[in-house]
Amino acid sequence: MKNLLLPVFAFFFLAGCQEKKTDYTTPAKAEMQIATAQQEHPGKKLMETYCYTCHSPSAPMNEGRIGPPMAAVKAHYLMSEPSREEFVHQIVSFVDEPSADKSKMRGAINRFGLMPYQEFPDGAVEQIAEYLYEYQIEEPDWFAEHWKQGPGKGMYRQQGRQMGKGMGQGKGAGKMGKGMGMQRQNPADKGLKIALETKELLGQNLMGAIQKEGTLHALEFCNVEAIPLTASMAEKYNASVQRVSDKYRNPQNQATPEEAELIDLFTAQLNAGKDPQPVLFPENGTIRFYYPIVTNSMCLQCHGKPGDIEPQVKEKILKLYPQDRAVGYSENEVRGIWKIEFENMR
Ligand code: HEC
Ligand code: HEC
Repeated sequence: MKNLLLPVFAFFFLAGCQEKKTDYTTPAKAEMQIATAQQEHPGKKLMETYCYTCHSPSAPMNEGRIGPPMAAVKAHYLMSEPSREEFVHQIVSFVDEPSADKSKMRGAINRFGLMPYQEFPDGAVEQIAEYLYEYQIEEPDWFAEHWKQGPGKGMYRQQGRQMGKGMGQGKGAGKMGKGMGMQRQNPADKGLKIALETKELLGQNLMGAIQKEGTLHALEFCNVEAIPLTASMAEKYNASVQRVSDKYRNPQNQATPEEAELIDLFTAQLNAGKDPQPVLFPENGTIRFYYPIVTNSMCLQCHGKPGDIEPQVKEKILKLYPQDRAVGYSENEVRGIWKIEFENMR
């Protein structure tokens, strides 16, 4: 494992030096420089990683949404004018144990169903809630108008500081980096962006298929659409995008032994309550990027233990994938990893 990680560290230092043309004397100093250059509230990235799959600001108002945009959640939670502590406490308490009793968004429950319980790394939701309270966040173009006609009665103005570089200023900010400006992103951020956007795309389509026509139909959807949908993101970002697993369903998604080791590494991080960090391998002008794919309760209908999977679903899985290994999972386990390769641009 050690020899796997070595190039990663080497890479971060090298990349840091090349980008900023600074004369670093020690690795520790280089690391600090990189950290300050990216100074951002940690809650921002955690929110984009763990919440935007369902609370994305970019999905349209009606079609394809699987949850309210985060700006709507924030606006509802600010209505009672809570202190910072109350705000954070209320968000954390809901996410720890979602229930209709605690809800401030009954309309959202009616429309989307109660938020499913999921596990997040220790402290992550507090950081996200603090970030939400303190900073303006990206909101969909339609949101301010929608809010004025509803609960906000004309009083909507987003609370919070603005994040550097024009982030979160409504217009345009929502389209951040879609293709543009990618060249200047560091490779870890670029890989993560592609992984999360693909996850959002697959997740929205999957939940939509389940809600509309049930798990059996959704299974066919995954069978036919998973690889083409992933490929569409690959085209958009001029990258190769794959999901691989040690316990694969589709044999095309089989992890190499080296990748299986990474799955073990991410599993250990997750079990320790840590926020898993991407792993990158630079080679011949390209970057190979890995990041874990973690289960939630919804996945178990097709990847869970025998009791979680309906008999007809089980039967259909075996018909489509006679060698299926992708079952027996619980919530919050590493189901596989994103494998994304792209050119290393400077
Ligand atoms: C798998 C989809 C999904 C993910 C991921 C998700 N949520 Fe939700 N969340 C929902 C849905 C659906 C609703 C609307 C229904 C409801 O209010 O329960 C919701 C509502 C909420 C609400 C408002 C609850 C209320 O009714 O008052 C909060 C707060 C919230 N989410 C926080 C978060 C945070 C923070 C994260 C990331 C750490 C997150 N959610 C990730 C699906 C999700
Ligand atoms: C409706 C059934 C269904 C649900 C729900 C489902 N999957 Fe899958 N999953 C599949 C099918 C079918 C495939 C094989 C797709 C293919 O042939 O490319 C698959 C493949 C995968 C793969 C690629 C590796 C492999 O085993 O081939 C990953 C990773 C994965 N699923 C993760 C998840 C996660 C995480 C969730 C929950 C967020 C989830 N799945 C929910 C049916 C499902």
